[in-house]
Amino acid sequence: MKTQICIIGGGPSGLLLSQLLHLKGIDNVLLEKHTRDYVLARIRAGVLEHGFARLMREAGCGERMDREGEVHDGVFISHDGRLDRIDLHKYSGGSSVIVYGQTEVTRDLYDARDRMNGKVIHEADDVAPHDLGSDKPYVTYNKGGASHRVDCEYIIGADGFHGVSRKSIPAGVLREYERVYPFGWLGVLSQTKPVSPELIYAKHKNGFALCSLRSQVLSRYYIQVPLTDTVENWSDDAFWAELKNRLPADVAARLQTGPSIEKSIAPLRSYVAEPMRYGRLFLAGDAAHIFPPTGARGLNSAASDIYYLYHAMVDHYHKRDDAGLDGYSEKALARVWKAQRFSWWMTTMLHRFPDNSPYEDRLQDTELAYLLSSDAAKSAMAENYVGLPF
Ligand code: FAD
Ligand code: DHB
Repeated sequence: MKTQICIIGGGPSGLLLSQLLHLKGIDNVLLEKHTRDYVLARIRAGVLEHGFARLMREAGCGERMDREGEVHDGVFISHDGRLDRIDLHKYSGGSSVIVYGQTEVTRDLYDARDRMNGKVIHEADDVAPHDLGSDKPYVTYNKGGASHRVDCEYIIGADGFHGVSRKSIPAGVLREYERVYPFGWLGVLSQTKPVSPELIYAKHKNGFALCSLRSQVLSRYYIQVPLTDTVENWSDDAFWAELKNRLPADVAARLQTGPSIEKSIAPLRSYVAEPMRYGRLFLAGDAAHIFPPTGARGLNSAASDIYYLYHAMVDHYHKRDDAGLDGYSEKALARVWKAQRFSWWMTTMLHRFPDNSPYEDRLQDTELAYLLSSDAAKSAMAENYVGLPF
């Protein structure tokens, strides 16, 4: 098979780029390791920046998001038995976020790819990029017992943190920066009315908790747990009891509980790989960087990579201008690092760090006290939470 661009990975990054390029007449083939049902069963992010939403609309995929997504103008921070609200709209100079699940984003993108007869190949095994340093790269994969080859001009590595793309960059070229946090998030999805119309980020001596939502009948809650815990350690009853424990009493009293329809533990990690380009291979999304989920940066940073890459490819194919491709890594990384800083800051301020000294605990309390007492600090948080421009 021959195409202009071969995209590895059918998560939100790969699908969004595939859809945007196809709309501009740029031929592409997308290879995904798993089935569509498997990809859609993963419960992940829930908060979208407006920059992401604009890109979804440009891709012709914004209709359901605009109908069913909720615009949120603020978030709550709970601490010491009380709730404080950060007015995102006021402190960001008029912006907000959209609550619409990654599962729905992905479903809308797959539906759009179907409508356009996009070339999406599922259950592509042993995907391997080749000849990245040449101007004739290609990708091989196996499917249904046969081996296949895609000849292309560029390869996009949008295959997540565990994908093959980043690993095909020679070790001497790749620089990796990482922080692994000594805890994870236990997440529960339940068909219950959300406890709060806006998200609650909770700091508590037992650890962090987050009350989020997917709709007015679907709640998503998280609690910080040690990395040694497993899902089997946490019955639904134990989860609800600990979540309530970490919330102010009046909030806990109105929390509706119910059976979990999904329960999983995600470790927290900060990670950046540089550069995001090697020869004809461009990395995007989780293939290049991981964020601890606290600031809701993961999916949104994937979207900014796709924005830069999409415009760079359009300039290359329509205007013979390679400045976007040449500057991609530097430009994408500049925004990625600011999002890293923000997610590290929010994670550090709100979680319990078991090895902290009493001095560090007091500084952590003071960081939150300062945020809640300073308009300048609230503005800094709000402009990052709604998303820096791209
Ligand atoms: P992915 O969604 O990982 O997609 C990559 C795709 O590539 C997958 O479909 C995978 O099957 C495929 N693939 C992998 N290897 C290969 C291969 N060798 N060949 C072909 N295909 C391959 N972000 C937030 O903002 N908030 C959250 O609450 C949040 N929760 C998360 C919870 C978990 C458990 C995880 C793992 C991530 C979470 N994130 C969250 C991050 C967010 O979901 C990601 O940033 C987002 O999914 C990135 O999209 P992506 O398309 O770059 O990567
Ligand atoms: C969700 C996850 C986050 O990490 C976050 O900061 C906000 C919301 C969620 O899954 O709903």
